[in-house]
Amino acid sequence: MRKNITIPHSEGKVARQAHVGPPDGTYEREIGRDGFFGPATHMYHRHPPTSWTSWEGPLRPRALDLGRLNAAQPSPFDATEVLANNHVKIRHWRAPKAMDHLARNGDGDELIFVHQGAGDLYCDYGHLGFEAGDYIVLPRSTMWRIETTEPVTALLIEATNNGYALPDRGMIGHHAIFDPGVLDMPAIDEAFLDQQGAGDVAVRVKRRGALSTVTYPHNPLDAVGWKGDLSPVRLNVRDIRPVMSHRYHVPPSVHTTFVADRFVVCTFVPRPFETDPDALKVPFFHNNDDFDEVIFYHAGDFFSRDNIDAGMLTFHPCGFTHGPHPKALQNMFVQKKPATDEVAVMIDTRDALELGQLPAGVENEDYADSWSGGGA
Ligand SMILES: [Fe+2]
Repeated sequence: MRKNITIPHSEGKVARQAHVGPPDGTYEREIGRDGFFGPATHMYHRHPPTSWTSWEGPLRPRALDLGRLNAAQPSPFDATEVLANNHVKIRHWRAPKAMDHLARNGDGDELIFVHQGAGDLYCDYGHLGFEAGDYIVLPRSTMWRIETTEPVTALLIEATNNGYALPDRGMIGHHAIFDPGVLDMPAIDEAFLDQQGAGDVAVRVKRRGALSTVTYPHNPLDAVGWKGDLSPVRLNVRDIRPVMSHRYHVPPSVHTTFVADRFVVCTFVPRPFETDPDALKVPFFHNNDDFDEVIFYHAGDFFSRDNIDAGMLTFHPCGFTHGPHPKALQNMFVQKKPATDEVAVMIDTRDALELGQLPAGVENEDYADSWSGGGA
């Protein structure tokens, strides 16, 4: 196992604590390993670390407007692959009104994040209603389908050859950031029993990326009961009660919602801004040197980013420094609002992500220039 070389040291002018009271006229940058859990150094720069004037080559921040993916996709397996590697697949799905088949993902657990719309999920375990802001974790190989009551768009996040767990709560205890009691499960209810019956039902099974279709002469969602500790769960973002400090800008890792072996899913939900006069009030500049970072913007006003609207996704591959946009930096100490109202989903991956084939117009090609001027 790798053992980091960690010998605390400081040089020159520094702050007494990270993210608090940087020396006058400096910009703090965190250089961190292991996704904000490993060794880290805070640098104090004369210029914003994002004040680049040009950018060439394939490593660049990307911004995608997924709202421009308009075509309805009859099956979740038709969803548009946005970013992927061997351990995670992030897809955007514009769902049909009702699926005419069952889906079964044999490649890994599926996490559905409902961005827009509402409907009903029917699966091996029963019936579960859903609405915007819901996460639904579907254990690998669960058979399922949806019917919508409002048009649905969703992110599908596959934990390839892997599964989801809840993060270690550590010092904040078992019932923070959400009480496990708020996780809802499917029910064997009247709606579920009513959809059982005769007639051919096709099940599309995905395994190693390839689809097979298995047809039954009846609906195989025919359970009359089940018992056990494996089941889909549903969590709405409004049930997440974020950890924050009025005196310290806590790192994004504290907002971890689900973990897989090679990536994490975090949720940013509304929270008060820090009130301590010396505390940083926007995300600090950082290079998160072991992780690629993806953020999907679900709702609200995205306080640290300009020109980012709901339904957009940004991708910051590791290897360069990023941080707040210049306007957010300038406004840091003149906050007009007492709290953020953003809701966003972050996916941080240990392994490099590849961008999928996306139609023209989805990517904002000028995103890397959006830091121009750097806020100085
Ligand atoms: Fe970041």
